[in-house]
Amino acid sequence: MYLGLDLGTSGLKVMIVDSAGQAIATANANYPVTQPHPSWSEQNPADWCNALQNAIAELKQNHAQAVEGIKALGISGQMHGATLLDADGDVLRPCILWNDTRSHVEALELDQQEDFRQIAGNIIFPGFTAPKLIWVARHEPEIFAKVKTVLLPKDYLVYWLSGKRVSEMSDSSGTGWLDISKREWSDKLIQKTGMQPSQLGKLYEGSEVIGTLDPVRAKQLGLPQACKVVAGGGDNAVAACGVGALKEGVGFVSLGTSGVILVARDGYYPAPESGIHTFCHAVPERWYQMSVMLAATDNLNWLARIVDNKPDVIANKMGDTIGQPSHVQYLPYLSGERTPHNDSRIRGAFLNLDIATQQTDLTQAVLEGVAFAYRDCLHALEMTGCQVSSLLGIGGGAKSHYWIELIATILNLPIDLPEKGESAAAMGAARLAM
Ligand code: XUL
Repeated sequence: MYLGLDLGTSGLKVMIVDSAGQAIATANANYPVTQPHPSWSEQNPADWCNALQNAIAELKQNHAQAVEGIKALGISGQMHGATLLDADGDVLRPCILWNDTRSHVEALELDQQEDFRQIAGNIIFPGFTAPKLIWVARHEPEIFAKVKTVLLPKDYLVYWLSGKRVSEMSDSSGTGWLDISKREWSDKLIQKTGMQPSQLGKLYEGSEVIGTLDPVRAKQLGLPQACKVVAGGGDNAVAACGVGALKEGVGFVSLGTSGVILVARDGYYPAPESGIHTFCHAVPERWYQMSVMLAATDNLNWLARIVDNKPDVIANKMGDTIGQPSHVQYLPYLSGERTPHNDSRIRGAFLNLDIATQQTDLTQAVLEGVAFAYRDCLHALEMTGCQVSSLLGIGGGAKSHYWIELIATILNLPIDLPEKGESAAAMGAARLAM
């Protein structure tokens, strides 16, 4: 048996997969995101560890034998977050997440230095890890002075499980510190942000074993002590492993908290000027390109919250088949935007509301607005020479047939729905462990 962990933004999912690659069981545990100030987005790393304990406890209740047979585990994680540890390995402040745009000034400063786009292969977006550390140095110098190690969210969980301070290629691609073509830390970029290479974890490929479980953790969680831990990867790369998007041109559209169109590439073809991301894949000698929208299902979640209902309930009111376009338009930029606008300050809007506008018109406009933003994302990818003839549809939002049909229509591409597409990252994490 193999265990896949998916450390998402709204919760953690665990999945046991047998040696034939079949999912045997899953469990979930949620945790909150806090927004102490506008454009801030933080999480308490202790919540991730508690969620892991609760999810494993749930698995053990119904699948004790399978849990005893786990040989290795892999982890997929929300990318870019800065988890800051002191010399004792204690967490210094809440983790600053991928959709936190407070460091937009610092990001721009780095992006304007030639070396960054050239070596890191990407626009240095405000959500990336490097500008966050400059923000901490400027605004919380007493914390910055104590930072011994910076870990990405899933690398913190690896540290908690194994005691090892490590990272790997796919997730590290989103820091702004990795030389993406060479697949190694760039000492030059690290030092330009006032950091030292020793403050970052040793790099592995996503499928490499980094060690075994710490005996204390194994006992605490009730997992076999000999369970190996593999390095894992950033959520999009790992989801690509879960649905088999590894070869040139194979890709997916992901409807999660963020929205992503990802296409696997067999080489490194950076194109930062288009606002897309070019990152290392979670398996050796492969890369991928992706467009990222900061809010996808988050738009529907927001609308549901303000009309005091549940996202799936308001989405289901649209039925299963699309009809006429809505007379209302919606701009889905609740958290600013990355691809293609790279603007942390733009915000959402409804246009053309009138006295007859119903709640279902608003829902339709939100679903359409997100779908048209995916169209911008596909266009940006195509501008770089990416050939896309179909996509897989994954993520929680892909459960809405209406939304998927809308996106397929607006992208003018077939979208295939893999089985358990909402668990692609957990499946990919288990596959990396296999
Ligand atoms: C990718 C990105 C998001 C997060 C969400 O660059 O920021 O997809 O990984 O989990």
